Amino acid sequence: MTDMRRFIEDMPKAELHVHVEGTLEPELKFDLARRNGIELPYASVEEMRAAYDFDDLPSFLKMYYEGMGVLVTEQDFYDLATAYLTKAHSQGVIYAEMFFDPQAHTSRGIAYDTVIRGIRRAQEDAQGRLGIRTQLIMCFLRDMSAESAMATLEQSLPYRDWIVGVGLDSDEKGNPPVKFKEVFARARAEGYRLTMHCDVDQENSTLHLWQTLDDIGVDRIDHGVNSLEDEALCDEIVRRGLALTVCPISNKCITGSLKALEVRRMLEKGMRATVNSDDPAYFLGYIYENLVATQEEADLSRDQVVRLAANAFEASWLPAEEQRALLSRLEGYAASEARASP
Ligand code: ADE
Ligand code: ZN
Repeated sequence: MTDMRRFIEDMPKAELHVHVEGTLEPELKFDLARRNGIELPYASVEEMRAAYDFDDLPSFLKMYYEGMGVLVTEQDFYDLATAYLTKAHSQGVIYAEMFFDPQAHTSRGIAYDTVIRGIRRAQEDAQGRLGIRTQLIMCFLRDMSAESAMATLEQSLPYRDWIVGVGLDSDEKGNPPVKFKEVFARARAEGYRLTMHCDVDQENSTLHLWQTLDDIGVDRIDHGVNSLEDEALCDEIVRRGLALTVCPISNKCITGSLKALEVRRMLEKGMRATVNSDDPAYFLGYIYENLVATQEEADLSRDQVVRLAANAFEASWLPAEEQRALLSRLEGYAASEARASP
C-alpha cells in the first residue's frame, strides 16, 4: 500500500452523501429476499452484480428501485443501515449524514414508521457500539409529484427530531428544483436544513443549479460538478460558502468520468468540495475507494486530501461544538502525520 493510501485509510472522515438504500449489497439482498419469501430474478450474487450494467442515471435508478423491493420489515431497514455503518466505521468514517427515500417504500405499502424506526435503531446502536455519529436526511423523489412530496413532509413531522434536513433525488430530467419550491419553503419553516441533487451532466444542469440558489436557498448542493461551466455560478457558490458533495465513482458509472480534475479545480477556486460514495453497493466503492481514486487521478497533495475531509466536517449539519470536536480529530491526525513524515 502506498503512503498516500494508508494516510487516506487512517484519516478520520465524514460522509455527507450516501443513500442508505444504495448501500444494499447483493449478499444482504439475497438474505432479505429469503427472509421475506421474495423470489429474485438472479440465481447468484455474481449474476446480480453482472446485471449492474447501467451507464446513465435512469438505468441506474431502475436497478436501485428494483433492489429495494426486498426491504419490508423494520428489522430489514435496521440490518441495511447497520451493515453500512459497520463498513463506514471500518474505513475511518466518524460522522455520516445518510439519505433515505421514504416514498420508494410507502409507494410499495411499507409504513413510514417501519422505515424510519429501523434506521433510527441502527443509528443508535452503531453510535453505542462503534462510536460513529450519524444524522438522517429525508429525500423526496423528484419524479413524483410536489403533492406527494408535501404529503411525505407532513408524514415526517412526528419524527422531526430524528431528521436533520431534506434533499431531492431520483430522475432530474424534466424535474427542476422549482417544481418543489413550496415543499422546500415549508421544510425550511419546519426547521429542516435543505439540500438538493444537481446530478452530473444532466439536461439544464446550470439552470437547475441557479434555481437551487435563487428559488430554493439551499444550504448545500449534492453533486453540482457542472457549476464549473459558469463562472458567475462558481463565484456565488463561493460567496455563500456552500459545500458540494461530489461522488467520483458514481460519476464514473453514470457519466464515464470520475470528474477528479473537476474536484481539484473546485478546491483551487475555494469551492468547498467533498468526496462521497453515493450508492456504494451499486457503484462498487465506499468513501475510501472514492478518495483514493480522486487523489490518484487528480494527483492531489496530502493537504488537498485533508482539505476535502475538513470541508465535509465543516459543512456537516452538526451543532457547532460537536463539529469542532470532530474537526479537531482530523486536525490532530494531519498534524501527527506531518510530524512523522513531513
Ligand atoms: N438516488 C440514489 N442515488 C441517486 C443519484 N446518484 N442521483 C439521483 N437520485 C439518486
Ligand atoms: Zn445521490
